[in-house]
Amino acid sequence: MAEQAFLLKGFLQGNDAALITALKDITTQSVFRHMITPGGYEMSVAMTNCGARGWVTDRRGYRYDALDPLSNASWPAMPALFKQLAEAAARQTGFPHFTPDACLINRYAPGAKLSLHQDRDEQDFSQPIVSFSLGLPATFDFGGLDRKSPVTPWLLEHGDVVVWGGESRLFYHGIRPLKKGSHSLPGNCRINLPFRRAY
Ligand code: SIN
Ligand code: FE2
Repeated sequence: MAEQAFLLKGFLQGNDAALITALKDITTQSVFRHMITPGGYEMSVAMTNCGARGWVTDRRGYRYDALDPLSNASWPAMPALFKQLAEAAARQTGFPHFTPDACLINRYAPGAKLSLHQDRDEQDFSQPIVSFSLGLPATFDFGGLDRKSPVTPWLLEHGDVVVWGGESRLFYHGIRPLKKGSHSLPGNCRINLPFRRAY
């Protein structure tokens, strides 16, 4: 997709049902919620987390937290399968030392979107982002280091994985409003799992 950015088509094929079963367990412990941005807007994407650290946003800002603010308990553990697949995708794209400690879980209903942004709440930008797509297809805009850099649209489908790091680690990216559709596995929505090393 760009320098050190890769789209692995169908990488999750064969593991999709197991991933979704594990997700059901996680999201009954730490439920999906619409978080509030520091500017006071409710995000259209519903989110939760698994792993040692979870990404959260509220009026105080964006950050990683070891506790789910809704339950004050730790986030559910990251399933071994999630970690294995994320590490395998990273290894295959030239990041052999990636070990995620955070897995955000994004759920897009039709109409939900994620505006162009950089992932920069992590401590070590030498670690890549590994991002799984399940369910309905979406258009992923991938730009450059500048908010105004031209973007290229990429179609992300069920089972695809995107890895970006190194030169493109801080590239702007976003998801266009999700189109209606039907998908049997997670239901009529899109699930995205971005794996990151937060600390
Ligand atoms: C993100 O930027 O965290 C999400 C990207 C996606 O939904 O594919
Ligand atoms: Fe992002």
